[in-house]
Amino acid sequence: MIRADLVIYGARQLVTLADVTVPPGPRRGHDLAELSVIEQGALAARDGKIVWIGPADALPRQVSQLSGCGVFDATGHVVTPGLVDPHTHLVFARGRAVEFSQRAAGKSYSEIAQAGGGIARSVADLRAGAFDELCRNAGKIASRMLTYGTTTAEAKSGYGLDLEHELKMLRAIRTVDSSHAIDLVPTALPAHTIPVEYRSRPSDYVDLVCHEILPAVAREKLAVFNDVFVESGAFSLAWAERIQSAAASLGFGLRFHVDQLSPMKGTELAVRLGAISADHLDFISDDGIRCLADSTTIGVLIPGVSYFLDCTQRPPARRMIEAGVAVALATDCNPGSNMCESMTQTMNQACVLYRMSPEEALTAATVNAAWSLQRADRIGSLTVGKQCDCVIWDTDDYRDLSYHYGVNLAVHVIKNGMRAAP
Ligand code: NIG
Ligand code: FE
Repeated sequence: MIRADLVIYGARQLVTLADVTVPPGPRRGHDLAELSVIEQGALAARDGKIVWIGPADALPRQVSQLSGCGVFDATGHVVTPGLVDPHTHLVFARGRAVEFSQRAAGKSYSEIAQAGGGIARSVADLRAGAFDELCRNAGKIASRMLTYGTTTAEAKSGYGLDLEHELKMLRAIRTVDSSHAIDLVPTALPAHTIPVEYRSRPSDYVDLVCHEILPAVAREKLAVFNDVFVESGAFSLAWAERIQSAAASLGFGLRFHVDQLSPMKGTELAVRLGAISADHLDFISDDGIRCLADSTTIGVLIPGVSYFLDCTQRPPARRMIEAGVAVALATDCNPGSNMCESMTQTMNQACVLYRMSPEEALTAATVNAAWSLQRADRIGSLTVGKQCDCVIWDTDDYRDLSYHYGVNLAVHVIKNGMRAAP
């Protein structure tokens, strides 16, 4: 008998996303729609790890409950892996609702940025903000993410843009990670934009990033990844290559904001430098699609930004999937381009705006997102030995997670084998 301290039984659909390829890897092409559903399924865990999974009627014969075992009746419900959000900017001092009003009145995101708003506004707010206040705000966002079913999220710096404040942001991420049930995976983003004080000598800022900020982040082990925003007005391909080469030599995995607002051939650079992820991709080229499909780099799509900024140019998700790109989905939760914590909202937007299927959206929000954080050995699917991070949803059809939008269907969010939300 297998002994368990958590049992979930009676799931109408237990969506496991168990590996379909040997060796295991991120899902591509048709495999994106392979959810590996157990009808009338059950799951058991011990010490936060899954120890048994199978048909509900076999559970009593094969699993014994330890005293104090948590028992969850999922009759008529869907159970999925905890959702994974691989691109967020959840630490910021203040919202930018004023810019939302300006955009409603006809100003564009770029015009607002050029007039001193945008990322520069958040940098000024963050530098002025108290550390405790930052942690409190980010903690609220992290709790909301968890309530909506996200059990692991990436979190970037990028509103500090000098040594002191980039470290302050990354320490805030560490504080929130250790004080909240959600797991946060930290990414340094000192190359988010050129800070105002360096606008007349931007290459000096690139030097500062390479020689001071990234080495300090590495010394304090404050980030796993480093990200660069490749865009006219932010970082050129040449600067991005310098920064990411320095980051790689310090041991960081590489992530990129590329081809978001204009075609820059940033995807090609990301692949050439062996990036873990290339994110946004609204203006990806045909060559970019081909080299991404032939690489191990995950294409992280962010339909929430397409929606929130009302972008007419969108990533060609269907062509990317058909070409064999391993796609993941993320909220990009941030005060400027998508003020949203919900991954199910993101899945809905992926289906409506990018024509992804509900199956593809769920795979992209779980197992492929986990691959893009290099954590697929622990999270993103429900198999024996993985972390017991899962969500019980108030529906009997997994398609509802994408289809029924604007509501939260999560009834129990379980993190490391313990109920963590709502
Ligand atoms: O991913 N592209 C750059 N960075 C963010 C926006 C950040 C902001 O507007 O504050 C993004 O869209
Ligand atoms: Fe972003």
